[in-house]
Amino acid sequence: MISSKVQDILNIQINKEFYSAYLYLAMSAYFEEIGLNGFANWTKVQAKEEVDHGIILFDYIIARDGVVKLEQINSPDRDFKGVLQVFEKILEHEKFVTDSINCVASMSEDECDLATRHFINWYISEQVEEEANTRDVITKLKMFGDDKASLYHLDQDLAKRTYVPHSYKI
Ligand code: FEO
Repeated sequence: MISSKVQDILNIQINKEFYSAYLYLAMSAYFEEIGLNGFANWTKVQAKEEVDHGIILFDYIIARDGVVKLEQINSPDRDFKGVLQVFEKILEHEKFVTDSINCVASMSEDECDLATRHFINWYISEQVEEEANTRDVITKLKMFGDDKASLYHLDQDLAKRTYVPHSYKI
């Protein structure tokens, strides 16, 4: 059994993960529109991973005999103005998610819920990886500047990203 405070913050986190999936899908659609299919692939794969993040939280709440409460998912930001600006938005969003995950960790400690504290470690590591991957793309984009050939090659690289499902096992 989990406390109502931990259950509530986990349910809020489910909503943030599904919103993240929506946001990445909106970005994927934008990249398709401007002809960057590799960037579109990268963001679509990320959207699928975000759905997994939400479902793992869902499964965890159920496993702890809690109650899943699915709230409305907001429309994603669609104010996109170029590749670099989109990736800067991704970094900003992932920092927001990192803060949110840290709050789940902090709340589980306050509630003496060591199972949730242990469970959320996977998300803490995942956030480090997601921020690092995003910074890597931003660094390259800044280095390339207006060089379209370099952008084309990066697009080819990002086209290689494949979706590997994540799941929660007790
Ligand atoms: Fe589920 Fe991008 O954090």
